[in-house]
Amino acid sequence: MLQVFCHVLLLLLTCFYAESCVQQHIEAQVPKMLEPGYVVSQVNLNGCGDGPLELISSDPAFTVQTDGTILVVWVIVVPRDGRSFWITVQDHTGHNWFVDVSLSTTRKVSKNAVLKRAKRRWSPPPFSIKENDNGPFPKDMEMIASDTSVNYSVYYKINGPGVTETPVGLFSVVPKSGLLRVHGTVDREQYPNIVFRAHALNSYNNQETDDSLPITVIIEDENDNAPQFSGPMDFTVQERCAMGTVVGKVEATDRDEPNTLHTKIKYSLKNGTNLFSIDGSSGVITAATNMLDRETAEKYILETEIRDMNGASNGLFNTGRAVVTLSDINDNPPTFTQSQYKGKVMENKANLLVLRIPVEDKDLKNTPNWKAVYEITKGNENGNFEIKTDPITNEGLLYVTKPLDYEKQQTANLDLMARNEAPLVGTTSTWQKVPVEIAVENEDEGPEFYAPVLVLKVKENVPNGTLIGTYTATDPETKSSKDIKYYKLTDRGSWINVMENTGELKTAMTIDRESPLVYNNTYNITVKAVDTSQKTGTGTVLILIEDVNDNVPFITKPDQVLCSKSGTGGSVLIEAKDLDQKPYSDPFTFELEGENAEQWKLTGATGTSVMLQPAKELPNDLYQVPILIKDLQGNGEEQKVSVRICDCTNEGVCMPQHFSTALGVWGVLAMLLGLLLLLLLCLLCIFVCSTKGEKLAMADDYDGNGGMLLKSNLEAPGEEVKDAMLLMSSTGADIIDSSKGGGFLEQHTIMSSNGATFGQKQTYGSGMYQNNMQGLMTTNTLSSGQYNTGMYGNSYKKHSTMSTMDMWRESGIQLDSKLAYFRGETDGRFADDILRPYGYEGVGSPAGSVGCCSILGEPESLDFLDSLGPKFKTLADVCTSKSQRGGK
Ligand SMILES: *[C@@H]1O[C@H](CO)[C@@H](O)[C@H](O)[C@H]1NC(C)=O
Ligand SMILES: *[C@@H]1O[C@H](CO)[C@@H](O)[C@H](O)[C@H]1NC(C)=O
Ligand SMILES: *[C@@H]1O[C@H](CO)[C@@H](O)[C@H](O)[C@H]1NC(C)=O
Ligand SMILES: *[C@@H]1O[C@H](CO)[C@@H](O)[C@H](O)[C@H]1NC(C)=O
Ligand SMILES: *[C@@H]1O[C@H](CO)[C@@H](O)[C@H](O)[C@H]1NC(C)=O
Repeated sequence: MLQVFCHVLLLLLTCFYAESCVQQHIEAQVPKMLEPGYVVSQVNLNGCGDGPLELISSDPAFTVQTDGTILVVWVIVVPRDGRSFWITVQDHTGHNWFVDVSLSTTRKVSKNAVLKRAKRRWSPPPFSIKENDNGPFPKDMEMIASDTSVNYSVYYKINGPGVTETPVGLFSVVPKSGLLRVHGTVDREQYPNIVFRAHALNSYNNQETDDSLPITVIIEDENDNAPQFSGPMDFTVQERCAMGTVVGKVEATDRDEPNTLHTKIKYSLKNGTNLFSIDGSSGVITAATNMLDRETAEKYILETEIRDMNGASNGLFNTGRAVVTLSDINDNPPTFTQSQYKGKVMENKANLLVLRIPVEDKDLKNTPNWKAVYEITKGNENGNFEIKTDPITNEGLLYVTKPLDYEKQQTANLDLMARNEAPLVGTTSTWQKVPVEIAVENEDEGPEFYAPVLVLKVKENVPNGTLIGTYTATDPETKSSKDIKYYKLTDRGSWINVMENTGELKTAMTIDRESPLVYNNTYNITVKAVDTSQKTGTGTVLILIEDVNDNVPFITKPDQVLCSKSGTGGSVLIEAKDLDQKPYSDPFTFELEGENAEQWKLTGATGTSVMLQPAKELPNDLYQVPILIKDLQGNGEEQKVSVRICDCTNEGVCMPQHFSTALGVWGVLAMLLGLLLLLLLCLLCIFVCSTKGEKLAMADDYDGNGGMLLKSNLEAPGEEVKDAMLLMSSTGADIIDSSKGGGFLEQHTIMSSNGATFGQKQTYGSGMYQNNMQGLMTTNTLSSGQYNTGMYGNSYKKHSTMSTMDMWRESGIQLDSKLAYFRGETDGRFADDILRPYGYEGVGSPAGSVGCCSILGEPESLDFLDSLGPKFKTLADVCTSKSQRGGK
């Protein structure tokens, strides 16, 4: 017996250790007669995990569904002392748990009933006590007994919760009999059940005769707690929402035993049921109408009741207030307070507030549903008005933005429409319109020109006093021009006269389209009109000037320089211009005029320019070339171009000139007188000066090199004259020295000696060739433009002749160097610096000299050159052609 008890307890312990997932006891109160399908109870399987469970009833009269519901299979009559069976719960791992089910028809603690452990059970069924029991206490509950009492004298002891742990002292046991007693009231909501332990002890040795047993006391629920509201009770719903729209859910709890009628709450509304309804079991409030209107009532307080026992009259209840707030939608357009508005405004005034137009809007203030936006739907075609919204009062502010004219419009009839920023919803009404009448008030105004800007077309050069137009003004009030006087305000060229009484415009001056006062063919004046009351008005007259062919083409640059270059005849570009417009202007035609026509030719004519070039080689001089230039209409005049042909510097300008072409007759005479005086002086020198040539070193301003300058006595017949060979050798050397200083030195020399050198040439001519050779060369260089080319030619010829003679006598080496020099020089240099070759000629040839050339003299005797070899032939050709040209 002890072993069995132990085994049972062990099994019990194992099961406890295996942590049963189900409650171990179910005690159900049932009617005496059970119909099939009757739900006895339900096994709570929540603790058994997700795996599949097998539930088997030990009694075939009952079946267990997978959710744990225990159902009656056939009709059963429950006996007085109840009926018991168990349910095996097997999980997927093979673990078994057992649930005892006890059915009873009445619940009564039988004093005699002994809580005994049947063999097939491993624990005694729990027993229950009522909560809130009023006593009297102690109250007997049940008896416990151990099987070991058969073999031993035992006494019982209990400990654990309800005995030695809180709630301490609630239960006690009578040690001898095992009678359990309860000593006070228990609150189920505090202790839903209490499990303590019972021990059986041997009276003799106080040893436990059996393993201790857990005793479970279930506290039976009484409906002693009313439901409580547990969630927020403030709800918001849009006005005019559809019927059935969920407003919110009322939450409530009940502390009594869950899943019983004690906690089955029914929700109900005590008022406001015409507008809202509540779902009895869930507490969800819905709109019962689609007519909720925020503008009627913004808030509804709903008296809400929650009652347990599923609303039965014996149920406990609570009431609360659910507050439903309606949110705004734009279901009201702004409305005008009057059927028409009237205002007035002075004419000619702008940016004035004319009217304040109030509106009403029932929607929520300061929201887009309330804020008005105004629009002028009619009558503002000219843009005179503008309407804005007063942000504070929501009024429409009607402004005049463009001045009105009373003379044109006495009243302005506008249609205004007011909208909201948000569109209208949930309503059939539309945006409202209102007519507005604005009276324009008259003001006495100054005269007005019939057009603010008058455009007149006038031909240029019309005679003084021509009537070109009339510009009149009228009084806006009277529409009459009577007694209005006209004056000019601006007229930069004083070209126009305004007739004071008539407003006629007449030319006062020649109107010239080409005048600088005219821009884009337009000359404008402003005119003022003054009425009798001294009020004024102004207007502008734009005079469009039509072109007349009153200008002939002219040459823009009549002074031109033509650089003379041997061989290539240069040209100058002649450009012409006509101040008139097309077709009185280009393309121009160019023609040469006068007796010089054959000397020049015109090439490469474009519409506005032509190239002028000499028809043949012309000597350096200033030429007046008459050219006839005509415009497209054939109008034109002869124009003179002055062309200076000259030797140019590299920059293309003429070399510096020393004698003005402007020298008159008197100048020439004065010059001749000077020359005469110099001649006398020179003659004097011939006698006075020493026979020895002095060298004079001169500072060279041009390139900083030292130079040598022969004194003016060079031309004098000194010792050198007596011995021609010797003279040339020494003077030649001197010249070489100076020429080393550079090409400009000769010029400098000549400048220094000025007219004197020149005079010598004139005087001595070919007779004194030995001396004046220097002078000749000098003149040659200097005299371009000063003396005519004929003179130049003569000089040149002499020089050529002498050169030829010299060559003949000189050794081949000298001539080679000379030729190399000539070839190396550019044409321009050759022409400019003709003196320098003579300087070189002296190099390495003290014996040979130019001086000897005079002995031969005649160019016709050049035939001997044939014997000189090819190099000389070339040179000879050059020389011959030059001398022939020069001789012409
Ligand atoms: C009591 O003792 C008898 C005889 O020894 C034995 O057969 C029986 O099982 C015991 N009972 C218990 C409950 O131990
Ligand atoms: C419901 O009753 C409460 C309390 O009497 C009241 O304040 C509330 O306005 C009522 N609600 C309606 C919709 O009549
Ligand atoms: C018009 O008069 C102005 C001066 O009054 C005079 O200079 C001009 O030449 C005149 N023009 C004509 C076309 O008569
Ligand atoms: C010149 O006048 C013409 C017509 O009168 C106009 O179309 C054009 O824009 C004007 N040009 C300028 C630069 O004012
Ligand atoms: C009149 O001419 C002046 C310059 O001559 C010019 O600045 C002005 O803009 C013109 N007025 C009109 C209206 O064309």
